[in-house]
Amino acid sequence: MAGLEEHYSAQDIETRILAALRTAGLDPSRRLSPEALGALDHFHTGGLRASRELLELVPVRASDRVLDIGAGLGGPARLLASGSGCRVACLDMSADYCAAAALLNRLTGLDDRVEVHEGSALNLPFADASFDVVWMQNVGMNIADKRRLYGEIRRVLAPGGVFAFQEMAAGNAPVCRFPLPWATHPADSFLVSVDDMRQLLRACGLVEERLEDTSEEHLARTAANATPAPPGQLSLAAYVDDLGRKAANARLGLEAGELRLVRGVFRAQPREGGR
Ligand SMILES: C[S@@+](CC[C@H](N)C(=O)[O-])C[C@H]1O[C@@H](n2cnc3c(N)ncnc32)[C@H](O)[C@@H]1O
Repeated sequence: MAGLEEHYSAQDIETRILAALRTAGLDPSRRLSPEALGALDHFHTGGLRASRELLELVPVRASDRVLDIGAGLGGPARLLASGSGCRVACLDMSADYCAAAALLNRLTGLDDRVEVHEGSALNLPFADASFDVVWMQNVGMNIADKRRLYGEIRRVLAPGGVFAFQEMAAGNAPVCRFPLPWATHPADSFLVSVDDMRQLLRACGLVEERLEDTSEEHLARTAANATPAPPGQLSLAAYVDDLGRKAANARLGLEAGELRLVRGVFRAQPREGGR
């Protein structure tokens, strides 16, 4: 196993997650609330709070068909499904993360509305125009071929459908501190500037409704020397190695301006009659 595959692997992840839940005082034999898992299963900058804020920009309806690309353990997908009653398809390349997502779907009683697919964001195993909302948080940084990624997103979105995302973009200088939460080595990190991201999205037929840099807001709201979660509290550390160093490097990159945290809402061109 090498590179990104290794970065996003976690041996015995289901056992580790069950142990972390019990240590945190949660009983996996009882139905768990998706929100109670937020510190464990929202693997992106800003965690559960950032997912809620993105959701405020894109109200999801019960009838919407939603795809979460690079869904990880499925925390954002369960937030969407439990909040609105919609159905969500999770797609991720990591077999370990897919297994953990399926486990957490069962433990939250959401396995009838959140499904898990192992696969590539560059070759989505879904028909054209099959989703009303495509969701993606902290995934594009791993993908070199962004034109193909955005092309695939545009392909599976129904006309008028929405692409909502959060991403790290390139800042004023190459990011130099590794490991980062999304890449152990520079060879697995593919950042583009916010302007290039906008141009690429536009070229793929996605129309901008919002594209904003939330870096300063994020830095102001989070502590510079945040200590790792104390033992006994749920944390990504249950399955992410070296979390403290990765998170600290991401923060230093943001503070130095080498990284920019961006959030976007784009829409697939509607046909007559629109969404
Ligand atoms: C930082 S995690 C974010 C997980 C999830 N979006 C969240 O916010 O909780 C990045 C995820 O993207 C997935 N990923 C990266 N490149 C991918 C690709 N080309 N196809 C599918 N999944 C990919 C990884 O396996 C990992 O689960």
